[in-house]
Amino acid sequence: MKNIVILISGTGSNMAAIVRAAQRQDWTRRLDARVAAVIANRPDARGLQTAREAGIATAVVDHKGFADRETFDAALQAEIDRHAPALVVLAGFMRILTPGFVAHYAGRLINIHPSLLPAFPGLHTHQRAIDEGCRVAGATVHQVTAELDHGHILAQAVVPVLAGDTADALAARVLTQEHLIYPRAVAELLQKI
Ligand code: GAR
Repeated sequence: MKNIVILISGTGSNMAAIVRAAQRQDWTRRLDARVAAVIANRPDARGLQTAREAGIATAVVDHKGFADRETFDAALQAEIDRHAPALVVLAGFMRILTPGFVAHYAGRLINIHPSLLPAFPGLHTHQRAIDEGCRVAGATVHQVTAELDHGHILAQAVVPVLAGDTADALAARVLTQEHLIYPRAVAELLQKI
């Protein structure tokens, strides 16, 4: 069985979309895969409750309890590795990861970022796209490398930027697409690993 571990920091709507797809598409039978655990770096991450309701194991590794990134990443890695993951999925996980952590999961660590990478790595992607006068925006699923919001692109979705868009309106339009492309990209990758 290929175990998927999903890391979240907040709402976890992308995580929920992946869990839904796994249930509806019967990934256990079709892909020999399952969402084994959802881990958050914040105890108040709303997605934890969603995961529990779906019967998925949850854990919290609170970054505030650690002196530096290295010790936090080591504790996070230990928690993830309890599940012997085939794939580690970052879904709104708002932490910069150390090179050692990224190397440990090389080829089996993916992320979704709310921009059309390589444009707009980092934060405030929607406002920056609006400010630049972009006609389109979107989201990118990519392999994670030590460089923030870089790595081989696995999937992208494009949405229009409409006249008068606010960052929130654009974010909501992009998020709808994230929920489509992320489960699809995860399933495609699971067929290859
Ligand atoms: C999503 O829009 C995701 O692309 C973004 O955070 C949101 C999480 O929503 N991720 C990043 O900005 C990573 N740098 P969710 O918790 O509802 O899935």
